[in-house]
Amino acid sequence: MDPEKLIISGENRLQGTVRIDGAKNSALSIMAATLLTKDVCILRNVPRLTDVDTMAAVIRKLGIKVEWRGDNTLYIDSDDFNNCEAPYELVKMMRGSILVMGPLLARLKKAKISLPGGCSIGARPVDYHIKGFETLGAQVEVEKGYIEAKVDKLKGDDIYLDFPSLGATENIMMAACLAEGVTRIENAAKDPEVVELGHFLNKMGAKVKGLGTDLIEIEGVKKLHGVDYTIIPDRIEAGTYMIAAAITGGDVLIEKADPLLLKPLIVKLEEAGIRIELEKNLIKVIGLNRVKAVDIKTLPFPGFPTDMQPQFMALSCVAKGTSVITETVFEKRFVHTGDLIRMGADIKVEGHSAIIKGVKKLSAAPVMASDLRGGAALILAGLVAEGTTELSRIYHLDRGYVKLEEKLNSLGADIKRVKE
Ligand code: EPZ
Repeated sequence: MDPEKLIISGENRLQGTVRIDGAKNSALSIMAATLLTKDVCILRNVPRLTDVDTMAAVIRKLGIKVEWRGDNTLYIDSDDFNNCEAPYELVKMMRGSILVMGPLLARLKKAKISLPGGCSIGARPVDYHIKGFETLGAQVEVEKGYIEAKVDKLKGDDIYLDFPSLGATENIMMAACLAEGVTRIENAAKDPEVVELGHFLNKMGAKVKGLGTDLIEIEGVKKLHGVDYTIIPDRIEAGTYMIAAAITGGDVLIEKADPLLLKPLIVKLEEAGIRIELEKNLIKVIGLNRVKAVDIKTLPFPGFPTDMQPQFMALSCVAKGTSVITETVFEKRFVHTGDLIRMGADIKVEGHSAIIKGVKKLSAAPVMASDLRGGAALILAGLVAEGTTELSRIYHLDRGYVKLEEKLNSLGADIKRVKE
């Protein structure tokens, strides 16, 4: 596929209605969980994203049948497979591939997964995942860029996570479902995607309790059965459109967005002077010509989501006053500040904090996406910048946003996708 770029003409006020697609990070872990049963699983409202395609490729590589049935429905048949290896060429494209490790250990008692490696937002080690599997009785070797694990019988035990890691919580939960006895995960992640995975597992016949709290208890069972399940809407996609409305002084109705999963963002946008009207699965955002500066600190759920930090920084660049944004989840999630500065933003990074002095106007410039949410921040900046912004490396965006420029253009933006 030839590299593409987006040409974004600025200063359009967004108005209208946008519909949110299924949650990427929930789809990925639930796709991995289908390996835990021999039965067929049907997943609905699955977003058409390159990360989902990569997870499907990993599962197919294991010898499992994965087919699209209609636009957003996946048919997965894990009846009979015996390959336990997720190769580097796939894992390097999407670190979430590590999520097949727990199911493989539970199903085949072995797994060979390429080390995901870091990305632009940090080293992103997987030591909590490995420690969890070892606590459940697995022998784990890490060599030549691969994690090799094997176990005679997974045995439930107590696991304390140094950090409420979303992926580690999910991976350990999946392995523990078919272990002997009870597993308690202390300091577990409380994210909606973890809760959804737990609901999916319980629908398969698992016994998972404490979802949404920091103590998740899993009583192992002998067997799990197939499930027909609908993926929840993507809270980060919804949050991105909320900021698009706010930054352009627009008036946008966001459909299939659950306000309960976006509380920190709603509170912060209201503090900034944005008017927000809420109904069940509907969020209406009425922007301002210039928001007030507010401070943000990212924290594990239910704190302000790290996946909304770059987008909120774009808004802070044109706010009235000075904002301080502190990133506590990833060690290097300020890569997008360089390109925002190229567009005229006034940002100083000091350790885990960025100090942003709001400017009246950004100006268009050629910029480059460095990761999924950093790329989204640059599109938001391009929407309000004077002139035409060229954003390259947009393959990062296609990993996590369905039809991003089409949806923004339907709200009145002027964005063209062209070959580099
Ligand atoms: C998940 O990543 C999401 N990805 C990320 O979304 C999200 O930013 C992140 O959770 C935090 O909410 C998927 O669900 C596929 P973590 P994950 O384990 O599981 C450290 C996006 O944009 N850590 O909660 O990898 C880690 O380095 C992506 O959709 C260890 O040290 O996140 C980080 O600093 C980006 N050792 C912190 O914990 C480990 O074994 C949080 O990571 C695991 C994590």
